[in-house]
Order: sequence, then structure tokens, then C-alpha cells
Amino acid sequence: MKVLFVASECAPFVKTGGLADVVGAVPRTLATLGDDVRILLPLYPALAERVSRPRTVMRFDDLLGGPARIRAVRDEELRLYLLDAPHLFDRPGNIYLDADGRDWHDNHLRFGALNVAAARMAAEGANRWRPQVVHAHDWQAGLAPLLIRMRHTGATPATVLTIHNMAFQGLFPWQTRYLFDIPDHLFTPDTTEYWGKFGFLKTGLVFADAITTVSPTYARELLTPEFGMGLEGVLASRGDAFSGIVNGIDTQTWNPATDPALQARYTSRSLDRRRTNRAALASRFALSDAPDAPLFSVISRLTTQKGMDLLLETIDDLVARGGQLAVLGSGDHGLEKAFVDASRRHAGSVGAVIGYDERLAHLMQGGSDALLVPSRFEPCGLTQLYALRYGTIPVVARTGGLADTVTDADPAAIRKRQANGIQFSPVHADTLRQAIERVFTLFADKSTWRGLMRNAMHAPVSWDRSAPRYHALYQTITARKS
Ligand code: ADP
Ligand code: GLC
Repeated sequence: MKVLFVASECAPFVKTGGLADVVGAVPRTLATLGDDVRILLPLYPALAERVSRPRTVMRFDDLLGGPARIRAVRDEELRLYLLDAPHLFDRPGNIYLDADGRDWHDNHLRFGALNVAAARMAAEGANRWRPQVVHAHDWQAGLAPLLIRMRHTGATPATVLTIHNMAFQGLFPWQTRYLFDIPDHLFTPDTTEYWGKFGFLKTGLVFADAITTVSPTYARELLTPEFGMGLEGVLASRGDAFSGIVNGIDTQTWNPATDPALQARYTSRSLDRRRTNRAALASRFALSDAPDAPLFSVISRLTTQKGMDLLLETIDDLVARGGQLAVLGSGDHGLEKAFVDASRRHAGSVGAVIGYDERLAHLMQGGSDALLVPSRFEPCGLTQLYALRYGTIPVVARTGGLADTVTDADPAAIRKRQANGIQFSPVHADTLRQAIERVFTLFADKSTWRGLMRNAMHAPVSWDRSAPRYHALYQTITARKS
């Protein structure tokens, strides 16, 4: 099956969050099932620096305001199509935000162009490679299913849209639709309109042949007003075309036995070696030497989605109880400042690194005892999966993919050797505090804690579990089209 992924990020080339990890990882496992997955991405400056001599396979005289071309390259075993449109992507800084932290003023053009390019690749192919399936990821690729239908002649590829986060919908002024020649009859509440605006994600939800999201629990949650963010009705109207497929992780990049970012590599049989990583971590976060205290980590966007405000409310108790906390993250400036303040208030017990540091994220997974993920909603979440793989016990809110991937350490699960983490709900500071308290109790019982670590490291987190579901979905929707 020939599949074209359309996405705004892809690890290891360009990453702001879990979307990149997923887009960079699934194609490798799908390849073992016989699928030829290629990825269409914007050519950002960081990517341009890294890939060597991409070949031009398609040209546009004028793509929403300037000349552009699609360039093909193979790197890290992935086949990439890079949309080289300097007027849209050749600029420094964050891929979504300008220097003031606001969305780039022309994001509708930037990601709109990505969709136009996808539709043309779907129609014409590039270098005699034409996709049978176009798999769009998040709002940045939400127009592709409609543009493909509108512009296509002959056999139309089947389309899938995956929702990685309903909180980002790509809403723009209604006039935006003229840029894409979308006719008036396709600007209605049951097509592309969302309360007077033109919605990229909504368009995808209406016109894709199949819709997925990144965990079964989030799929159920999205059908409710609390989580659906106004699109629950559209999703409900798609019936069986909508499903949840839980994310996996790249178990080669994230492998404690071989990870070059760790001071000491280890397996479930050499857990003592983690001490060396812990010491390195303590020194990086200026934490005092306290080997008997549990060391908690946070690796996260610092936002209210991730429950970081709740964590701030519990820090004093965590420290009073003798725990340590290392926070790596960036995002909301108020939250960043609050974590830095907490690290000053609790010097030696709390450390904060504000920024984005991939290597440090690996070291934290390989050296801390527990990972805190108190999200208010979480489509899937990947950090808890990395934590499991590294024997760091995830302490998670019972929501979305966190509910689907972590098994709470209740007495029955401990007995059955299935327990690998701690869940709490409903999500507020008091329940988080109780969950942290459970860590202290379990941690004090060394053999139980070791059992949790081993169970965690044996949990099935690779893409082997879920990639076959995408493979099967591609088969089903293409069969329906022919
Ligand atoms: P989301 O995509 O909602 O931010 P996920 O848990 O799915 O959440 O994915 C987050 C990804 O980004 C993980 O790979 C995590 O390790 C990484 N990450 C988040 N913040 C940082 C950071 N400050 N430094 C390094 N990696 C980070
Ligand atoms: C989004 C979600 C996160 C998910 C990731 C990859 O960023 O917030 O929960 O793991 O996409 O699907």
C-alpha cells in the first residue's frame, strides 16, 4: 500500500511534541507490514540544514504567494517529500509561533499550501509514485481530504485524518476559503464552517474517509461536550468511520539498553545501574544527594492541559514529604516562572530547566523514579510510554491515552504482576497529592517498587501493537473506494 503522510512535524528532523514522534515512528513499523509510507512536510530551515541534496520532483509557479517545489530525500530510513516554499517556511524560530509567541499571521497560507501540495501529489503523483491513501495528521493537514476530492480526476486516493489534539482546530476567517476555491455550498455548518469561521480540522472530520484519534478512551471522550470542543456532533455523525488507535513508541530510539544519552545503560536485570543516571540527573538539576528519596520528573509542555498548575499546588507537600522534583519544559510564561520560583524556594529539592532538550529528556527517563503526568486531557501521551520502557513509574491522570496505557498499582494488579504505575481521578490538586503520597508508600517497600519497575519495562509499548490497525484501516478504506 502506498501511503502519503501529511504532517507539520516529524522526529528526528523537526519536533515540538508527540505528533513528531508518531509521524517519525509508525512508517518504520508499517514498512515491515509491506506499506510504503512517505511523509510530506514543510521544508523548515532546520530541515534544510540537515538533509543533503534533495531532488526536485514537482514545481509550483505560484503556491499561495510565491514559487515553490517539492523535493524528495531519504534520511534516517524515512522517505520525505519536502515542501520548499521560502515565502512561507524560510524564517527563523518556532514552526508555529512568531517571536512574540503568537501564531504566525499567515499560518492559514503556510499549512494551506501543505494541503494544496498534498492534493496535487495525490492527483499527479511525483516521479511515478502516487499514493493510494493520504493520511493527514492534525489541523495542519485537515484540508487535504476535501481538496483531494475537489481537484481529483480519475481514481481518488482514500483519506484518513488523525486527531492528535482537539484543542488545536485551525480556525480562520471565513474568507480564507476563497484561497482554496471552496464554493459557497461547502461553507455550511455541516461542512467547513465552524461558527462563522473556516475550520481546517472540521473540514477534515467531514470529508476524510476515516477518522482516528490516538487512544480508544480519547475517542470516547471526544464524543462528549466536555472534551469534544464543539466538534462532538460532527464526530458522532461519522459513526463507525471514527475510531481510536493507541500510539506506540519507537523502541530503538527509546531503549535503555542502548541509549547514548544515558550515563549508564541498563535492562530490567541491571536496574542498579540507574543510580549512575540518577546522580547525573541530580547534578544537572542541582539536587542534593538523597538516594532514599523518590525523584519525580516532569518532561512536558508547561500548560494547563498538562495540569502543570495543579502540580505547582502540590510541590510544597512533595518536598515536605522528602521527595525531589526535576522539571524540564517550556510553554506558558507564567508557569515557567512559577517552576523557576519553586526551584529557588526549594533549592536542592526542586530543579527546573526551562527549554527543550531531547538528550536531557532521555536521561530523566533513565534516572528518575517516577514521572508525573497530571493532564486535564491527554489524547494519548508519549512520555508515560517512554517512562514505562525505562522503568520510571508513571503517575498519571486517568484520562485519554493515560487511562489506556498505565495499569494502576492496586493490590490485585500488584498480585498479578500487572501493576506498572499510578492513576488518579478526578483531576485536581488533592487527588494528585494523594497519588504522590501513594508513591512514597510504594517506594518505601523496595521489593514491590522493583516489581512495578519490571512490569513497566515489560509493558507492550512498541508500534507492533497498533501499526497493524492502521494497516488494516488502509486496506478497508481503499477496498471501499475501488
Ligand atoms: P504533547 O505532544 O501533547 O506535548 P506527548 O506526551 O505526546 O505530549 O509528547 C511529548 C513529546 O515531547 C515527548 O517525546 C517528550 O519527551 C517531548 N518533550 C516535551 N517537552 C520536552 C522538553 N522540554 N524537552 C525535551 N523533550 C520534550
Ligand atoms: C498530541 C497529544 C498527545 C499525543 C500526541 C501524539 O500532541 O497532546 O497526547 O500523544 O499528540 O499523538
